[in-house]
Amino acid sequence: MSILICGGAGYIGSHMAKWLHARGTAVTILDNLSTGHREAARYGRLVEADLLEPAALDAVFEAGPFDAVMHFCARSLVGESVRLPLDYYDNNVVGTLNLLRAMRRHGVGRLVFSSTAAVFGEPVRDRIDESHPTAPINPYGASKLMVERMLRDVADAHGLRSVALRYFNAAGASPDGAIGEGHAPETHLIPNAIAAARGDGGRLRIFGDDWPTPDGTCVRDYIHVDDLAQAHWRALGYMETHAGAHAFNLGNGQGFSVREVVAAVERVGGRPVPVDIAPRRAGDPAVLVAASDLARRELGWRPDYTRLDDIVATAWRWHDGAGTA
Ligand code: UFG
Repeated sequence: MSILICGGAGYIGSHMAKWLHARGTAVTILDNLSTGHREAARYGRLVEADLLEPAALDAVFEAGPFDAVMHFCARSLVGESVRLPLDYYDNNVVGTLNLLRAMRRHGVGRLVFSSTAAVFGEPVRDRIDESHPTAPINPYGASKLMVERMLRDVADAHGLRSVALRYFNAAGASPDGAIGEGHAPETHLIPNAIAAARGDGGRLRIFGDDWPTPDGTCVRDYIHVDDLAQAHWRALGYMETHAGAHAFNLGNGQGFSVREVVAAVERVGGRPVPVDIAPRRAGDPAVLVAASDLARRELGWRPDYTRLDDIVATAWRWHDGAGTA
C-alpha cells in the first residue's frame, strides 16, 4: 500500500507516518514545513510542497500512485483563528479544495481527513456524539466543518470515499521518545505544563478559573496521538467496504480540567508546575468530552491509552529526551 500524508511533518501526521512505516506501508509526506519539523518527517519520503500551489500538488501526485491520502495540513489554533480568520479559511478550506481537485485529476478516491471537536462549538449535552449539533464558535472549527460538508458533496457527486476523524485533544508522544509534540510557539496545555515544570517555559498560564466547571477551569478529553494514528489506519480499511463520506468522534470519553492535567503532570514528573491565573482565551468552550461509541463500533477502534497519567508519561519522556521533532 502507498499513502500520501499531507502534513506528515507535523505533530499528528508524523506519528501517523511512523505508524504506517512500522507496518510496511510506503509513505510519502507532503509538507510545507511552516509548522512541521524536517526531523519528524523521517518515516517516509518528504516532498516540500504547499496545498495552496496546485502545480506543486500535481507533481506530488505524478510521483504516485497513491491508494489513499491522509490529510493533516491545517492551521489549528483556536485563539489564532479568531484573530486571523482569512488565513484559516485559506489554508484549511482552499488548501483542501486544491487537494480534492488534485485527487480527482489523478484518480485517487480515498481520503482520511483530520477534523476536530471544534466543529461542535458549545456542547448542549455532556458527552458529544455524532448526532450533536455542529455550531462552531471559532473560525478554526468553522473551516473544518466546511471541509466535512465538501466531502459529503464530493462523495455524492464523484464517489470519493472519505472518513473525517474529529479529534478531541490530541496528546502525548511516541512511547519510544522518538517524536513528540513540539510547536513554536507552543500553545497546548500538556507541553506548556511540562515546560513550566522543567523550568524552561516560564510559569504556566491557566486561561480562566471562572468557567462553569467543578474547579472553574476548562475540561477537555485527552486522546493519545498513537490512538489517533490507529483510528486512521482502521479508517483506511473501513473505506474498502464503505462508500460515502463518514465522520467519527475520537476521544477517551473522560473529561479532565486544566487543574487535573496540571496535577497529572506534577505526579508523573515529580516536579511542581508553577501556575498563574490568566484571563479566558478567546474561542475556548468550557467543556468538550467525546462519545466515541460509533468509532468503536464501526471502525473497531479501541484506544490503548485510557489513563491520563500514561498519556502524560509519554509526553514527559519525549521532553526529557530533549526531543525537537
Ligand atoms: N490552556 C491553558 N494554558 C495553556 C494552554 C492551554 O490554560 O498554556 C487551556 C486552554 O484554555 C484549554 C485547555 O487548556 O482550556 C486545552 O488547551 P489546548 O490549547 O491544549 O487545546 P485546545 O482545547 O484549545 O485545542 C485542541 C486542539 C484544537 C481543537 C480543540 C477542540 O488543539 O485543534 O482541541 O476544541 F480544535
